[in-house]
Amino acid sequence: MNSNSSIDGTAAAASLPTHVAIIMDGNGRWAKKRLLNRISGHEKGSSTVRSIVRACREIGISYLTLYAFSTENWQRPKQEVNALMRLLEKFLQSEQKEMLVNNIRLRVLGQVERLPSGVRQTLQQALEATKNNTAMNLILALSYGGRSEIVHMARTLAEKVKQGLLEPDSITEELVAGHLYTADIPDPDLLIRTSGEMRISNFLLWQIAYTEIFVTPTLWPDFTREELEQILGEYQTRERRFGTV
Ligand code: IPE
Ligand code: IPE
Ligand code: MG
Repeated sequence: MNSNSSIDGTAAAASLPTHVAIIMDGNGRWAKKRLLNRISGHEKGSSTVRSIVRACREIGISYLTLYAFSTENWQRPKQEVNALMRLLEKFLQSEQKEMLVNNIRLRVLGQVERLPSGVRQTLQQALEATKNNTAMNLILALSYGGRSEIVHMARTLAEKVKQGLLEPDSITEELVAGHLYTADIPDPDLLIRTSGEMRISNFLLWQIAYTEIFVTPTLWPDFTREELEQILGEYQTRERRFGTV
């Protein structure tokens, strides 16, 4: 059903996406263009995160998922990985108050156990402090990979079958979805990738089956609220068919 048309066939105002997911790419290129080191790009990128989180909260987006660090990103030089972990910890510390004031619930997807213990502690504290907040879900994909998420789900289901708690025939799409990190999170309506690459890079593989995709050439540190609003406007003009006519 096209939720944008009313019963009498006249077009109703298209709705905002409930869930926006962003592949925040291009920090390294932003720095390179300015003859700076990659880490300066990540620093600038983290201030973009602050402004986009604020914008989404004000616009009324219910779920914002940010791809902050992939399972593959562990293979970057140690110095860069350490800098990203430091920035993450700093972000979690400095934003906790803002998340509380603005009723934002922090959530996380990924292999959290691989994060350094300091980051894990700060993360745990922020998750706990914001767990009853209801205005927006800020979901950080950290040490996240879509394939490893699927492997994790398969192992959990296989274990249940082995213990006699589950029949293979009872494995449905809903059951699979319910055993991913995103169990109680709706699928993204809109996926934005900055800095022009036309690829998914192992992000939310199962969940984006019918997500609308926008790729912008803008590098993440240069991404603004204005461009986000422009993309949201374009999203509202798209017709989502979900395989029907
Ligand atoms: C995105 O920027 C940040 C992370 C992946 C952590 P990049 O660091 O990938 O920037 P580019 O792609 O090299 O420009
Ligand atoms: C995707 O960006 C991961 C994040 C934004 C965290 P990458 O820069 O790691 O992806 P590739 O290497 O361009 O596919
Ligand atoms: Mg990149």
